[in-house]
Amino acid sequence: MALLPVVKYGDPILRKKTAPVENIPGVLDLLDDMFETMYEEGGMGLAANQVGLDMHFAVIDITHEEEDEAPRVFINMKVLESNGTSDMEEGCLSIPDIRATVTRPEMILLRYQDEAGEVREDQFEGLLSRVIQHEVDHLNGIFFTDHLTPAKRSMIIKRLAEIAEMGAPTTGIVL
Ligand code: NI
Repeated sequence: MALLPVVKYGDPILRKKTAPVENIPGVLDLLDDMFETMYEEGGMGLAANQVGLDMHFAVIDITHEEEDEAPRVFINMKVLESNGTSDMEEGCLSIPDIRATVTRPEMILLRYQDEAGEVREDQFEGLLSRVIQHEVDHLNGIFFTDHLTPAKRSMIIKRLAEIAEMGAPTTGIVL
């Protein structure tokens, strides 16, 4: 296993809509490193393009918050329906030191493939729904900061520019 470098805000791959995964066994070979990197960085989710891979999949583990859950892999995700709204503070391994409250749908109906390549449609809510939506955004080239109002974004725009310029060390959380 090996730790992978997490790319930061400003890297073009984080603005790219990632390519669908056709070779699922190829993803399986990457999972150990993805999970290890996510745990090392203290994240609850990690999208493939955050470690430089142009592939639509993400790993998620919220078990330290909700112990009944299990580590999960989501491949080729699409949000089919969403319902309600919720506010939750988010951070991002690719945007060190910035946290902000983001409004998102509370519940989603998600189509995705699991590690066996099985196409599934499941409903998610709460923290898992939140993390999934953050990772789906990554894989479509969107940052959580894109959801903020212009007034809120103006408060962090200088910090975003600094990260884009030099890449800052990652501290703290999360997705
Ligand atoms: Ni993130």
